[in-house]
Amino acid sequence: MSTDVTAVRGPFVSFTGDPFLTSREDAFVYESDGLLICENGMITACGAYSALRDALPPGVTPAHYPGHVITAGFIDTHIHYVQTGIIAAFGSQLIDWLNHYTFVEEQRFSDPRYARRIASAFCDELLRNGTTTALTFCAVYPASVDALFEEASARHLRIVAGKVLMDRNAPDPLLDTAESGYADSKELLERWHGKGRNLYAITPRFAPTSTPAQLEAAGALRREHPEALMHTHVSENTGEISWVRSLFPERAGYLDVYDHYGLLGPGAVLAHGVHLTGRERGRCADTGTAIAHCPTSNLFLGSGLFHLHDAKDPHRPIHVGLGTDIGAGTSFSLLATMNEAYKVAELSNYPLDSLKAFYLATLGGAQALGLDDRIGSLTPGHEADFVVLDPRATPLLDQRTARVDDIDELLFVLAVMGDDRTVRATYVNGALAHDRDAAASAATG
Ligand code: GUN
Ligand code: ZN
Repeated sequence: MSTDVTAVRGPFVSFTGDPFLTSREDAFVYESDGLLICENGMITACGAYSALRDALPPGVTPAHYPGHVITAGFIDTHIHYVQTGIIAAFGSQLIDWLNHYTFVEEQRFSDPRYARRIASAFCDELLRNGTTTALTFCAVYPASVDALFEEASARHLRIVAGKVLMDRNAPDPLLDTAESGYADSKELLERWHGKGRNLYAITPRFAPTSTPAQLEAAGALRREHPEALMHTHVSENTGEISWVRSLFPERAGYLDVYDHYGLLGPGAVLAHGVHLTGRERGRCADTGTAIAHCPTSNLFLGSGLFHLHDAKDPHRPIHVGLGTDIGAGTSFSLLATMNEAYKVAELSNYPLDSLKAFYLATLGGAQALGLDDRIGSLTPGHEADFVVLDPRATPLLDQRTARVDDIDELLFVLAVMGDDRTVRATYVNGALAHDRDAAASAATG
């Protein structure tokens, strides 16, 4: 049987544990001259070039990236592919922003050709930014889910997605019903979950746009399909929280609405959690529910400051990943997202170091999605998704990285100054899927 072998040489970093909870030695690996060997989409060997060069199959010459940094592919734990077109919409906080911009744009996805066009552009943008896995909302229309999974499959991306469930408090064309939302979700889940690299997430938008009957049906589907993920929003904006209290007066709070309907637990990812109480954070930790921290969005919509240090309290840690939350978020780049996460943490007087930031964007995201046995680190037996970062991508970055003292400082500068230009190459499933310089020369002809 012929195998498909790729090899990549260069400095690499990877995580073996959670640096919020364990020592640097137990959490982090840095290899100044490393070699990755991949066969049929999987990493088969990863270590020092000097130790592994003899393991290279005859005739395989590694792609060599001296002076770069190779890391596991970035994982975006919260994004809306259907909002790609409305990034940078002026002037509103959450609920007005939803009504003025989001609900208008999402209606355009009733046209499957439009869905296909945006899904294609979205997947390309992920690759340009070094993102190899994303957990994304789709529109209410099942065809919008098919469009995304088809485009993701063509690029071998590992995508987790679901049809949004909404049966109240949105324009009529965007509403399903408790019954139709359940039936459509079930059909999509059975069609796509585990097909290739695609995974399905049951996706109620947030408590205000679902009736109790719809949340009940979502909980039933989750019980029938515990292998699927669950994806929603929680406690992003103070007005939203008051609204939930008035819609569900019998519940103890916002998180308790989801808890009541059986929507929490491993595989459940809640976006934002900016205003969660200590008790609610404890419940997330105890149930294994993950939070997607979306700093560019929280700043853009004026939602508030996420308390990362409380979420990662070693006594009761929550799984946390980073989310871009496009279109409320302002960049597809997980590097740009790390930059804003650093600033948000600084506002709570918590210096988020570079290892923790890169962990959140890789292994932390994988753990949040329950996929750390497959993605998120450069580990033999795991899927071969990785990114090659260029510390000399711009003149400003070049002069700054020329004076770093160690790998921690280099990663910090990349996190603060990096963006899509910093992504030299993205490998998906063991194959080169984006090459910045080749793309640039193709564009200039
Ligand atoms: N809450 C409910 N829907 C949304 C959405 O589309 N974006 C954000 N940021 N928050 C939400
Ligand atoms: Zn969102």
